[in-house]
Amino acid sequence: MIPGVSATPPEPDRPHLPPAYRLVALDAVDSTNEEAKRQARDGAEDGTLIWAREQTQGRGRGGRSWESPRGNLFLSLVLRPDCAPNEAAQLGFVAAVATGDAVGSVAPPMIEIRYKWPNDVLLNDRKAAGILLESQIAPSGGLDWLVLGVGVNIRSFPRDIEPPATSLQFEGAPADLDEVAFLEAFCRHFLTWTNRWLDDGFAPIRKAWLLHAKGIGEQIEVRLPKERPTGELRDLDETGALILGMADGTTRKIAAGDVYFPV
Ligand code: BTN
Repeated sequence: MIPGVSATPPEPDRPHLPPAYRLVALDAVDSTNEEAKRQARDGAEDGTLIWAREQTQGRGRGGRSWESPRGNLFLSLVLRPDCAPNEAAQLGFVAAVATGDAVGSVAPPMIEIRYKWPNDVLLNDRKAAGILLESQIAPSGGLDWLVLGVGVNIRSFPRDIEPPATSLQFEGAPADLDEVAFLEAFCRHFLTWTNRWLDDGFAPIRKAWLLHAKGIGEQIEVRLPKERPTGELRDLDETGALILGMADGTTRKIAAGDVYFPV
């Protein structure tokens, strides 16, 4: 048995996924991203999907922790796309749009689905899903593997955090919607959007993301490791970078950071 991993859930609960994915179903794990990275280093194939009912050390972006109780969805995909390392981050937008579509397929139509740069999914203005990308570059300089981790609050969400969180059930999804059904919906949509990205590039993903983007035209603060520039959220560029309109009339492109909306 691999360190940090406990027994698989019983067969009847096993999700039905498109054949493009090789499912590794776990009852509990430290972090599905950590497990996916262990398996990627051991040569796991493209499409290996680590899914756990519970994480004991779930991780978010920027070194934050991710609350991971049973009833929510935790998955990480090992991906080996044939693309440059700097293009791989676009798969975070692919995953955000797939998550939004999966929500749309299971949740009541009144739920407002928004994407917050770079990859958060908000329901009625509160965060319901987050995405964590981690990658390894090959000695040649190409992308070796990418681990794409997705956490979706299905039944519960953390209180007293900033920005505020929510869950699908809190926002009115059917009571019988569980993480297995959502995992199946996510995988269907992620496969569709990944194929679109492979065939047509980032443009259709960017368009779908911008259609539901939060805060275009609004004043934001971007938290970077050493500074916190403020300005108007103008656009998403053709690579996935955020375009910030500065007070002096110039624009600035930001490839990674956290966006905050002043209250
Ligand atoms: C964020 O918004 O900060 C990203 C959250 C990512 C959470 C998911 S849950 C599955 C995978 N395993 C982890 O430890 N993190 C990601």
